[in-house]
Amino acid sequence: MLKGKSIILGITGGIAAYKGAALCSKLVQAGADVRVIMTESAAKFITPLTLQTLSRHPVYIDTFEERDPSVVAHINLADHADLILVAPATANAIGKMANGLADDMLSTTLLAATSPIIVAPAMNVHMYEHPAVVRNMETLAQRGVMFVEPGTGQLACGYVAKGRLAEPEDIVKAVEMFFGRVGKLAGKKVLVTAGGTVERFDPVRYLTNDSSGKMGFAVAEAARTMGADVTIVAGRTTAEPPAGMTVVRVESAQQMLEAVVSRSDDADIIVKAAAVADYRPVRKLDQKMKKTGESLTVELERTTDILQTLGSRKRQGQLLIGFAAETEDVERYAMDKLTRKNCDFVVANDVSAEGAGFNGDTNIVQLYGPEGLIASLPMLTKREAAGRIMEIAAAKLTAAAAGDGGQAE
Ligand code: PMT
Repeated sequence: MLKGKSIILGITGGIAAYKGAALCSKLVQAGADVRVIMTESAAKFITPLTLQTLSRHPVYIDTFEERDPSVVAHINLADHADLILVAPATANAIGKMANGLADDMLSTTLLAATSPIIVAPAMNVHMYEHPAVVRNMETLAQRGVMFVEPGTGQLACGYVAKGRLAEPEDIVKAVEMFFGRVGKLAGKKVLVTAGGTVERFDPVRYLTNDSSGKMGFAVAEAARTMGADVTIVAGRTTAEPPAGMTVVRVESAQQMLEAVVSRSDDADIIVKAAAVADYRPVRKLDQKMKKTGESLTVELERTTDILQTLGSRKRQGQLLIGFAAETEDVERYAMDKLTRKNCDFVVANDVSAEGAGFNGDTNIVQLYGPEGLIASLPMLTKREAAGRIMEIAAAKLTAAAAGDGGQAE
C-alpha cells in the first residue's frame, strides 16, 4: 500500500518508543522506504540496531555524524521525505516542533522539512492535557500537522487514562489514509473552498470579511483523512491550509469562480465553505484613490454566485454542498439556498451565536437536505464538525451510487 513512499520515522524518548519497532516493521511491510531518526532519549528505551535491522537503513541520532560528505544529512533526509511520522511524540518533542527549536537530528530535520508531518503523541494524561501541550498541538495543527490521537488505557506511569500511543496498526492506517489509499473517500476527488474573498477599490483598499478559512480547511482535512484527493481553493485566510493537498490561492470572487469552475468537472464532492463577496466595486483604480469631497459614494455590482453556477451545471453523481451563514431565520434561508443553488445539502451556521461562525475554533451547524433537517450538531470544534459533515457526505455519495436516494444518518 505504501510502495514507493519515502517515510521518515522519528522516534522520541518515551516508554512507547518500544512500539516504534512494530510501527517501523509494519511500514516496511506495507512497502514504504523508512528512514529512522531517533532522539538520544529514545535510544535509551530501544536500541538503534533494532530499528536499523527493521528499516534496513542506518539509524540517525547525531546531527554531526555526517556519513556522506556529498550531502548534509538532515537536509537531504528532509528533502526526500514524502512524509515525516513522529511516533511516539513526547511533550518535549511537540513543544520543540511548535516553537521551531532544532537541537538534535530529529528536530533539525523537522525544521528543514517541507513534507507533510503526522504526529502520534504519547505521554501521561496530565501532560497531554496541560495547557502548554494543548497550545503547542493547536499551533502545529494550524500549520497543517496531522495527529493520530493517543488511546485511553493503562499508562506506563500507572494511570488508566488517555495518553498511550495509538496502536501501530492504527498509525499505519492513518499513514495509508494520508496517502489516499484507504478510507470512505478513497479514490474520490473533493474540491473545497475556504476563506474570504477580497474585492479591491484600489491597490491598497478592499472589501472583505472575517473568514479565517478554518472551517473550509477542516472540511478539506477531514476529506483527506477519509482518503480523498483534495483540492482547496482559498481566498484570504488567517489559518494555514492543511498539508497533503493541492492549494490554489485566489483573491476575488471572480478569481474563485474561475478556479473552482475549471476544477469542478471531475470533482465527486464540492464543498463551498468560503465566504464569497456578494458585491464588488464597479471600478477598481490602478492607483491609490485620493481624498476629494467630504463623503464618498462607491458603486458596487453583484458578483457571480459560484455555488449557483456549480448547481446549474452539476453532473450526475456529483455531490454539491453549500454553506449558509445566517443571523436569523436560519432554516428558512438555508432551505431557500439549498433549492435556489441546487445543492445536495447545506451546512447552516448562525454566525451570531456564541461559539459559531467566523474565526473561532468551534462551530454549531445544522445540515439541511431536500427532505429538511438532516442533522443538528452541538457545539464542536470545526475539525469535529467537519468530520461529521464529511461522514454524511460520504454516506450520501455511496447511497446515491447504490441508487437509494442518498439516505444518511
Ligand atoms: O472561515 P471561518 O472563519 O472558519 O468561518 C467559517 C464560515 C462562517 C465562513 C463558514 O462556516 C460559512 O458559513 N461559510 C459560508 C459563508 C457565506 O458566504 O455564506 P452565504 O450564506 O453568504 O452564502 C451561501 C453559499 O453560497 C456559501 O456556500 C457561499 O460559499 C456561496 N456563495 C456566496 C456568494 C457568491 N457570490 N458565491 C458563492 O458561491
